[in-house]
Amino acid sequence: MKITVVGTGYVGLVSGACLAEVGNDVLCLDLDAEKIRILKEGGIPIHEPGLDQVVARNIAAGRLHFTTDVEEAVRHGTIQFIAVGTPPDEDGSADLKYVLAAARNIGRTMTDYKVVIDKSTVPVGTADKVRAAIASELQKRGVEVPYSVVSNPEFLKEGAAVDDFMRPDRIVVGAEDEQAINLMRALYAPFQRNHEKLVIMDVRSAELTKYAANAMLATRISFMNELALLAEKMGADIEQVRQGIGSDPRIGWHFLYAGCGYGGSCFPKDVKALIKTAADAGQSLKVLQAVEDANDAQKQVLVEKIVARFGADLQGKHFAIWGLAFKPNTDDMREAPSRVIIDELFKRGATVTAYDPVAMDETRRIFGNEPRLKYADRPMAALEEADALVIVTEWKEFRSPDFAAIKTVLKSPVIVDGRNMYTTDLPRAAGLEYYGIGRK
Ligand SMILES: NC(=O)c1ccc[n+]([C@@H]2O[C@H](COP(=O)([O-])OP(=O)(O)OC[C@H]3O[C@@H](n4cnc5c(N)ncnc54)[C@H](O)[C@@H]3O)[C@@H](O)[C@H]2O)c1
Repeated sequence: MKITVVGTGYVGLVSGACLAEVGNDVLCLDLDAEKIRILKEGGIPIHEPGLDQVVARNIAAGRLHFTTDVEEAVRHGTIQFIAVGTPPDEDGSADLKYVLAAARNIGRTMTDYKVVIDKSTVPVGTADKVRAAIASELQKRGVEVPYSVVSNPEFLKEGAAVDDFMRPDRIVVGAEDEQAINLMRALYAPFQRNHEKLVIMDVRSAELTKYAANAMLATRISFMNELALLAEKMGADIEQVRQGIGSDPRIGWHFLYAGCGYGGSCFPKDVKALIKTAADAGQSLKVLQAVEDANDAQKQVLVEKIVARFGADLQGKHFAIWGLAFKPNTDDMREAPSRVIIDELFKRGATVTAYDPVAMDETRRIFGNEPRLKYADRPMAALEEADALVIVTEWKEFRSPDFAAIKTVLKSPVIVDGRNMYTTDLPRAAGLEYYGIGRK
């Protein structure tokens, strides 16, 4: 199949590369010339495990190409994926300007049948807007060209994106015409050889499904975070509570970890956007509003623990931070709790040395020439001259540190762990003060 992917970010690049991997002829478009230059020269502009090999293999096989040329991109694919960003607007709603610009570009240039697929996370009703944007461009040209608009939200997780795309749990397709549904079946057949994964539904339900999934996951996190705060007050341990409830199959093990708040490019903006969609429809989503409020508060919890230990005035104090990315295996810093924590430490007069296996370049780009923020090339090097170690992202390489060495290097023997990485006895046996989230 000839496929165009509009937007070559985390979702677009992974989708394009994986669709090429099963034999399709894929052209990825981006307006960011620098991104396309890197890709054309064989580089990868993001960190995503395994993606470099898939991209390299398919470029070499002649199935994966990159361009900044809109006309070439529209001409190429019968299937046109829209995978551009949908960042939050000032009022919290999803900003559709990139999606609608992509749709207009298609309408302005297309000369034969296209299936236009919304893969970006977009509010209910967006497919209608995409359809209207294309129709209006065709009308301006005075031509009639057939097309279908399909909703196909993406559920991949950064850090495991290639595997998620190649072996999806489900493939949600919102479509109402037979021709488009048949094309979607053919497109996804290689990804469901083991059993049927396509869930076909109406377009609006597909659009809402994506928000429902992320809202549910965010709810579980905020629920556990609030319960962790209560556990601390009650002298209970949230890790033991987690073990006690996760074993119930009605609850399950996933997304039950208390921590220092969720971040990333999806949960915060999607929760906000769903609240706004509901408000516009005259309904308040009280549970979800509480989920968001609890998360905002949770991003402050590590700093509150530091203040409780070292006092409100942190002038002259220096902290080591392990982990900057919003979660492990990615360099994505969008809405990362580390950003809030670093800013709060600065506000109170402290300085920071940070270590992250892959997100330090992205952090440098965000914080610029900030003299209060230094970087270490190894986890232990970050600890030198630090008053405490603050753990923000649960990278595997932090799982089994040398606690005795940490105690020796730190100025005060303090670990503030925002991800509950350790059983409390190990650091304490090494003479460290260990503060987790909701721990005894
Ligand atoms: N990142 C994730 O884990 C994830 C998972 C599922 C769904 N999503 C959703 O997918 C969408 C894309 O997310 P992302 O993280 O890949 O974003 P991203 O910011 O990494 O990539 C978006 C890309 O689109 C490009 N772009 C913008 N307008 C364009 C246009 N008119 N033509 C061509 N390119 C254009 C940008 O330059 C950018 O490179 C969002 O709606 C997001 O919510 C993201």
